Amino acid sequence: MAISVEKDFVAKMFSLEGKVAIVTGATGALGGAIAAGYGFSGAKVVLSARGKDKLEAYTAELKAAGVECTCFAADPANEEDVKALVKFTVDTYGELNILGAGHGFNAPKNILEQTTEEWEKIMDADCKSVYLLAKYCGEQMAAQGKGGKMVITSSARSKMGMAGYTGYCTAKGGVDLMVQSLACDLSTQHHINVNSINPTVFRSDLTEWMFDPESAVYQNFLKRLPIGRLGEPSDFVGLAVFLASSASDFLTGGNYDATGGYWAC
Ligand SMILES: NC(=O)c1ccc[n+]([C@@H]2O[C@H](COP(=O)([O-])OP(=O)(O)OC[C@H]3O[C@@H](n4cnc5c(N)ncnc54)[C@H](OP(=O)(O)O)[C@@H]3O)[C@@H](O)[C@H]2O)c1
Repeated sequence: MAISVEKDFVAKMFSLEGKVAIVTGATGALGGAIAAGYGFSGAKVVLSARGKDKLEAYTAELKAAGVECTCFAADPANEEDVKALVKFTVDTYGELNILGAGHGFNAPKNILEQTTEEWEKIMDADCKSVYLLAKYCGEQMAAQGKGGKMVITSSARSKMGMAGYTGYCTAKGGVDLMVQSLACDLSTQHHINVNSINPTVFRSDLTEWMFDPESAVYQNFLKRLPIGRLGEPSDFVGLAVFLASSASDFLTGGNYDATGGYWAC
């Protein structure tokens, strides 16, 4: 029987050598891990977040660790900022091949106490931002004619409600369906693969308190986590690199479970 898989393809299928990536939320726990993962896999990376000081400091750290990278402060929910981010990337590195969206925001509140403006802020930060990034990164990738990859951080909460989460669950549910629709718009004609990663609880500044093994929150989570622990940023990297690499060329429109089994039981 003839071998149907080329050795060279397998050897290089997770490499991002020669690729240019934008990573948003790059100063956060997951965005920071994505930026490091892409950089250590060979991509040139433009790190982005709104806050400039932390962004410059983390970019310098990655540079010192051997990653070819630079940064651009931008609000992903602001159309002019997103256009400028894409332009900066192309001006700096010549093209754009990968979008790793790792930004996000939540301010849980019961709908009866929440203002419409507060709800809109969550929708803009978590949903409109993804639309704008996909639109302008997609436009650039389509113009290049070489395909591309979009890896969008959604949430396990995209497919289930929660008290105080009418903003966050709705925005992330919107992101999952947007990813499916983006695949229909961008994959066939432009060979741009669009997928989401849907995490449960990963360690970050905001979730650190949930990692106390004595806490009721931790104990309750573990009852529904077959993997037996909460996530670390390094647990996120494999899926983020895989979905940006040629190893996942057949995958598009998927919402990928990074839940430690939370969706399974
Ligand atoms: N960690 C978890 O347990 C978990 C679970 C499920 C889903 N997620 C999702 O994973 C993504 C990253 O989460 P994370 O835990 O890494 O968060 P994080 O550590 O709090 O970092 C958030 C990142 O997004 C940026 N950001 C914050 N508020 C923003 C806003 N209003 N608009 C745009 N950007 C904003 C931050 O930088 P600036 O403020 O400087 O812009 C930062 O770079 C988010 O989409 C989150 O919803 C996380």
